[in-house]
Amino acid sequence: MLVSKSKSKTCVGIRKKVVIFVMIITLTISNLVMSQVDHRTAAKKRYMKEKVRKMFYHAYNNYMAHAFPHDELKPITKTYTDSLSELGNLKLEHLPQNYKGSALTLVESLSSLVIIGNNTEFERAVLWLSENLSFDVDARINLFECNIRLLGGLVSAHILATDSTNRLAPEVYKNQLLILAEDLGQRFLHAFDTPTGLPYAWINLKYGVMEDETTETSTSGCGSLILEMGALSRLTGDSRYEAAALRALRKLWSMRSPLNLVGTTLDVVTGEWLEYSSGIGAGVDSFYEYLMKAHILFGGEEFWEMFHPAYLAVQKYFRHGPWYHDADMRTGRATYWQLTSLQAFWPGLQVLLGDVAAANSSHREFFSVWEKFGVLPERYLLDRGMMHPTEKYYPLRPELAESTFYLYQATKDPWYLEVGESMVNSLNRYTKVEGGFASIKDVATMTPEDHQHSFFLAETCKYLYLLYDDSFLVDQNYVFTTEGHPLPVKSAWQERLPEAYTATNWTSIMGINYETRRISAMSLQVCPSIALMSEGSAGHQVESVCHIPDLRTTHRCMTDDDCGIDSTSCRKRTCSMAGYCGLWLLVL
Ligand SMILES: *[C@@H]1O[C@H](CO)[C@@H](O)[C@H](O)[C@H]1NC(C)=O
Ligand SMILES: *[C@@H]1O[C@H](CO)[C@@H](O)[C@H](O)[C@H]1NC(C)=O
Ligand SMILES: *[C@@H]1O[C@H](CO)[C@@H](O)[C@H](O)[C@H]1NC(C)=O
Ligand SMILES: *[C@@H]1O[C@H](CO)[C@@H](O)[C@H](O)[C@H]1NC(C)=O
Repeated sequence: MLVSKSKSKTCVGIRKKVVIFVMIITLTISNLVMSQVDHRTAAKKRYMKEKVRKMFYHAYNNYMAHAFPHDELKPITKTYTDSLSELGNLKLEHLPQNYKGSALTLVESLSSLVIIGNNTEFERAVLWLSENLSFDVDARINLFECNIRLLGGLVSAHILATDSTNRLAPEVYKNQLLILAEDLGQRFLHAFDTPTGLPYAWINLKYGVMEDETTETSTSGCGSLILEMGALSRLTGDSRYEAAALRALRKLWSMRSPLNLVGTTLDVVTGEWLEYSSGIGAGVDSFYEYLMKAHILFGGEEFWEMFHPAYLAVQKYFRHGPWYHDADMRTGRATYWQLTSLQAFWPGLQVLLGDVAAANSSHREFFSVWEKFGVLPERYLLDRGMMHPTEKYYPLRPELAESTFYLYQATKDPWYLEVGESMVNSLNRYTKVEGGFASIKDVATMTPEDHQHSFFLAETCKYLYLLYDDSFLVDQNYVFTTEGHPLPVKSAWQERLPEAYTATNWTSIMGINYETRRISAMSLQVCPSIALMSEGSAGHQVESVCHIPDLRTTHRCMTDDDCGIDSTSCRKRTCSMAGYCGLWLLVL
């Protein structure tokens, strides 16, 4: 890896067992509950962790027995589906003739195997993929889906294989997953060859963009590539991946309305919007998520400058109490009053921001809909308080479990452990079959469907497991991609600003001398201890040049003046309504 270990450690060592910005809230609330962390909670966690582990293995072992190396498991008939070309392909067009699968579910399971602590199986899987996985296949795939599932799965697993735990021995692991990821990334680049730089939604892995390919794509389709492609660039030293993703993201942001809203679908050749109505659900969701997470992972101020106004616009135009409806990007007028199950990721994102109160209230409402039906239906009509007449399915989606995990990390309120327990019980009761876990076709009747999506292993099981056992997060901060694949937050990645290095020759950056290099304003803000300390100097670590502690160690406050400046973001903390210092945003 390109990163100097000793340098990144100075930064990482300061922050423990927390997920990025959550730490500010964690500190404030944890001392309230510290005295209450009783034996019952610990026992409940152990019991539930075992239950989730069993779920993971039931899904994984059945996939391996009946479907591997094909893409996904059909748990009822105990067979397989080579579904890579079907992802995002609602009309099932241009399906390949001679495609035999890419072990999609195995790639998606890699980081979960590590989190669950099964290194032997992780190694076995990595070796199999090294020798047998090839992307030189005649299959038309969705760029977004392939990016978050395959590229994200490979890049994350590569980092986990080579991190300081020495999970895989160097004589066994010689960057095979990174080589596969790079091969895939090169195939992706064809999609970006458009007049706008916005990528086509579909490419053929072997032949590139097909003739007469549709020029329609979605906001999330071209706005959520930066984490995976950025990580790939930083790992390989080839800046093309990150540069392509960044160019698309900038173009997309330039297409926002004067209200700072974006639409849902657009044309990659003309750069015009096709669907002006949008929200925080399908087709847009991870665009917001990636702006915020890219800011955390890469530190660029540019991402924050896009995210901040975008977030405020969402809260202003889409939010109605705890709910989020859709609205027209041009006028801000409400269009659809619907809860969609993908929206349930939003409270988790709000936790990363420090907006815990808003996260808590939405999460509670979403969970009440889960409880009403037993699982979360795909669409729910807010104005009528009923399920959408046709979109009644529940394909084992993870988003509510994900938000529950983030909220528990931030608050340590044991109530979230009960929410997780209720979800685990529902999944076992309604979706478990002998051959795995089956999606639900109709939530009203709990009719099963013969499909176990790969994200059930990549996300649903992972977030439920992390809710009860977060030992994976000790000593390292991670950003989880929208598919649940962890990428570590390293100070070295934050200093290498995309701006600086997309324009430069990477090789010369790799060789830079920290002392003589020009330090940008941003790198002074993020983990500046690296710039301040000389190699090997012992003694106290300077946490941050901008860090000013809160007035009270309990982080309680009466006014904003009682709060200091956050050490990782160099932003002024403010006093929340509940009387705690944090990185709260002003929500209008
Ligand atoms: C790891 O997974 C494999 C495959 O499911 C299983 O046979 C093995 O017992 C697991 N190891 C541990 C330590 O759980
Ligand atoms: C690659 O696949 C073949 C056929 O399934 C298998 O025999 C071989 O062991 C695999 N390679 C590795 C390293 O697992
Ligand atoms: C979440 O909401 C519930 C119900 O309104 C409240 O009791 C609880 O204190 C809230 N927790 C946080 C962290 O805001
Ligand atoms: C990048 O820099 C290195 C070292 O300075 C040099 O050897 C290499 O030729 C440069 N590559 C390009 C493409 O300019």
